[in-house]
Amino acid sequence: LPIVVLASGRGSNLQALIDARDAGTLAVEIRGVLSDKPKCQALQRARDAGIATVALSPRDYADRASFDRDLFARIAEFSPRLIVLAGFMRVLDPAVVSACAGRMINIHPSLLPKYPGLHTHQRALDAGDALHGSSVHIVTPTLDAGPVIAQAQIQIQSDDNAETLAARLLPLEHHLLCACIALIANDRIHLASDDWRCDGQHL
Ligand code: GRF
Repeated sequence: LPIVVLASGRGSNLQALIDARDAGTLAVEIRGVLSDKPKCQALQRARDAGIATVALSPRDYADRASFDRDLFARIAEFSPRLIVLAGFMRVLDPAVVSACAGRMINIHPSLLPKYPGLHTHQRALDAGDALHGSSVHIVTPTLDAGPVIAQAQIQIQSDDNAETLAARLLPLEHHLLCACIALIANDRIHLASDDWRCDGQHL
């Protein structure tokens, strides 16, 4: 499955994809890694793995729409079948999202539909939730609101804080993202946003 990955930060999810690919457990061809943060660790991980990188700075663009148009033009050059948002911290213009409907997924650190947006770990703690987790979902124009493909969940412990929760969740996120992409690579899931179905009940 030819994919591109968009990331803004640490890139541990990207690293999980690279490692799974190298271990032969995930049949992906990572054609490129694109970022809005030229100095981020994710880009360094990609370079270390010999993957093509593209870094675009939003400050070089007049507005969000023109940045996103350029970003997606650069994505198109890689001809991916799937675009993976893995810690990509920018809201995307609805026009570009609509243009690749059903070909883009995101990993979000909450049990969606709970807590779209930022500070998800703290919000789960503040709400007194017993469970927390992460979701992989299809990207639609509304932030963090597209159909969920699968979720990983953990129990919140009484002494948890946002950092401990995030740290405990992270390895499950890596597994979840790899498992969801494997479903897509193996044609067990069809992402068209108006015709969505999944036969991968058990990850
Ligand atoms: C992950 O927690 C992911 O769910 C969220 O941002 C974080 C990215 O981590 N969208 P990393 O950059 O992949 O290490």
